[in-house]
Amino acid sequence: AAPVVAIDGPSGSGKSTVSRRLAAELGAQYLDTGAMYRAVTWAVLDAGVDPADADAVAKVAVDADLVIGTDPTSPHISVGTVPVDAPIRGAAVTAAVSAVASVPAVRQLLVARQRDIIASARSAAGIVVEGRDIGTVVAPDADLKVYLTASAAERARRRSTEVAADLAATAADLQRRDTIDSTRAVDPLTQAADAVVLDSTELGIDEVVHRLTTLLEA
Ligand code: CDP
Repeated sequence: AAPVVAIDGPSGSGKSTVSRRLAAELGAQYLDTGAMYRAVTWAVLDAGVDPADADAVAKVAVDADLVIGTDPTSPHISVGTVPVDAPIRGAAVTAAVSAVASVPAVRQLLVARQRDIIASARSAAGIVVEGRDIGTVVAPDADLKVYLTASAAERARRRSTEVAADLAATAADLQRRDTIDSTRAVDPLTQAADAVVLDSTELGIDEVVHRLTTLLEA
């Protein structure tokens, strides 16, 4: 069967770039599970629902029809007929996503959907899946599990450059989300026991992708 690769880690660790590049090199599909949580968060805000109201958030998640494209060269996500690729990266969604992602019913729904996508890809070209709980919860049977990290300062530097935002504000936002993501009751961000840990603080994208392709060939 084609490979399933799980890539977990905190924000700004280089997950997205590495995952897309690896998927493209393998000729595999690419799934950004963070984009799914962001899209549900977009729907919550669009409906005028309070992100802290777990029951109302869960209802929005059930009704939201996520349309997901898994081509690593042009990943895409829509809610129904509305493409949300741009707005899900905005400040409003980023501020609310960790609250939405901590609602157990939301996770149950999205994890089930993620497993379906992975199951189809396994019998096709394979898939690289990035997120927070892929190696631990979504795909514990992945062929390769990676926990990608970097120093807090380097992660903030990368993210603030990406989104052209203030460094101090970005650092504070990353820390706030890391805390919520790693302390929530359901499926918190943690390293899988059998994950390969890569610290990308001083490693370029090419080097990280090269190490992963080497691990897959082994
Ligand atoms: O882009 P960035 O690394 O900042 O975050 P993301 O991967 O887009 O994920 C956004 C948020 O979704 C995270 O801060 C988590 O709260 C949540 N998330 C999650 O709970 N589980 C996942 N598998 C992926 C994302």
